[in-house]
Amino acid sequence: MEMSKMRRVLDIQFTRIAQPRLHEDAFGSPDQKEEDDMAIERTHAAALTRRSRRIGMATLSVAALTAGAAFSGCGTTKTASDGTHPAATADRAVAQETSAALVAEGQRVFRFDTFGGEQVWTDTLRLHEVVEKNVDPTTALKVGLKVDADVLPPGILGKVDLKSPATTVALLKMNAVVGIQATVDSNNHIVRLGVTCALCHSTVDDSVMPGIGRRKDGWPNRDLNVGAIIALSPVLSADKKAVYASWGPGKYDPRYNQDGKNTPLVLPPAYGLAQVKNETYTAEGPISYWNAYVAVTQMGGQGNFSDPRLGIDVKHSPDMVSPKLPALRAYQHSLPAPPPPAGSFDVTVAERGRALFDRTCESCHVGGSGTDNNNGTLHAPAETGVDGAYAARTANKAYRTTPLRALWQHPPYFHDGSAATLADVVAHYNRVRRLGLAAEQQRDLVEYLKSL
Ligand code: HEC
Ligand code: HEC
Repeated sequence: MEMSKMRRVLDIQFTRIAQPRLHEDAFGSPDQKEEDDMAIERTHAAALTRRSRRIGMATLSVAALTAGAAFSGCGTTKTASDGTHPAATADRAVAQETSAALVAEGQRVFRFDTFGGEQVWTDTLRLHEVVEKNVDPTTALKVGLKVDADVLPPGILGKVDLKSPATTVALLKMNAVVGIQATVDSNNHIVRLGVTCALCHSTVDDSVMPGIGRRKDGWPNRDLNVGAIIALSPVLSADKKAVYASWGPGKYDPRYNQDGKNTPLVLPPAYGLAQVKNETYTAEGPISYWNAYVAVTQMGGQGNFSDPRLGIDVKHSPDMVSPKLPALRAYQHSLPAPPPPAGSFDVTVAERGRALFDRTCESCHVGGSGTDNNNGTLHAPAETGVDGAYAARTANKAYRTTPLRALWQHPPYFHDGSAATLADVVAHYNRVRRLGLAAEQQRDLVEYLKSL
């Protein structure tokens, strides 16, 4: 249709500019990749100013076709160009506009782009049929899906039946379900359905009611039961359904469909990563490496991803993933970790905890909240006493020291969620690293962790 044609035009344009470098990128070492990432971002940035008008138009046409009068992607694109003020010099003006436009484009991709993954969620898993028939909004909220209140017409929630699947279809038509993109035809049938990054890495502030509010991008959706949603598919074997159903809320195994093993991970935040060199619990590679992995192998995106270490080599033409990575990366890097709520920790006690942290934890969590992985260090599971089964499935077979960011916001902790609270984290270290901390010292340390 019109929309996919527009998208394709846009993708071909992107592809011509950025693809050759990304192709190399897929085969480089992680360090090489980070440099390539930068190069890609620069190339892309230079071309973006010229293309920003076109992107705005494409977004508008997507909006028109998803039939949402108040499609927030439009607002986003507009804010970015409107929000750019004349600068002292022309160069600075261009630089500012380019980076604002790049971040705005990244936000659009993060929230609304399925990369063509409908082929998995619609054609293969046929989830569009299940959603249309069986998933009323109450059920959708129960499996952790979130609704973006900003695009709802005022007063609508008082008028609709939250127990009717037809309401879910209407919400999808308004583009109000965070992380799910659906095309709904004029007879209110869902014809295409796919997922976006926001499904797992955004939540809402519950300002209207639990599960309905304003978007909080980068905040992991720890209520989301991805496994239960996938298990609704009518085409999966009973064995597979049982695995998906076993994960529970806030967890996902990003390799189960690759290696058939099952050790689900806690959904991590996608904020506070600007100073972090390698992503994921096991430091697989820089941010764009992992974004491409997920887009192509997990979301079903039509793009290129190649990693000889994992024996994966996927190519699509056109590549609907690689050209979007620089903007996606700029957006993620623009998301700060949310500061702890006022009064949520005791400053004096946290100060005492900090001294203790510097003595016992800082060798790995460099600078209090950083990671020694920025210097290339990885840790065997035994060093921190965590389960090694997940690491064994990955390229590096070891864990990255997790950069500590907004810990107050996202319990449980460790890759597998094995520590329910920060007190559990500290008790765990006290035991496995034989720190001999008294109860009061442990409390001090927890208070410091709450301040990060
Ligand atoms: C179905 C859920 C899901 C979707 C959709 C998803 N992710 Fe993730 N993401 C995860 C999980 C689980 C991990 C943890 C993987 C690991 O660390 O090994 C992760 C890890 C990450 C990380 C690493 C965070 C860190 O601490 O290093 C980033 C960044 C990220 N995802 C960004 C994205 C982007 C961008 C997209 C869209 C292209 C996306 N994710 C789509 C589940 C998801
Ligand atoms: C030998 C290096 C090392 C030391 C020392 C260390 N950590 Fe860690 N830390 C890690 C690694 C590796 C992980 C990731 C483990 C996992 O996810 O399974 C981690 C994870 C964490 C997490 C979980 C973060 C999240 O978002 O899930 C917290 C909290 C934490 N460490 C706090 C501490 C505290 C407090 C100390 C000192 C008592 C400490 N660490 C000492 C390496 C270390």
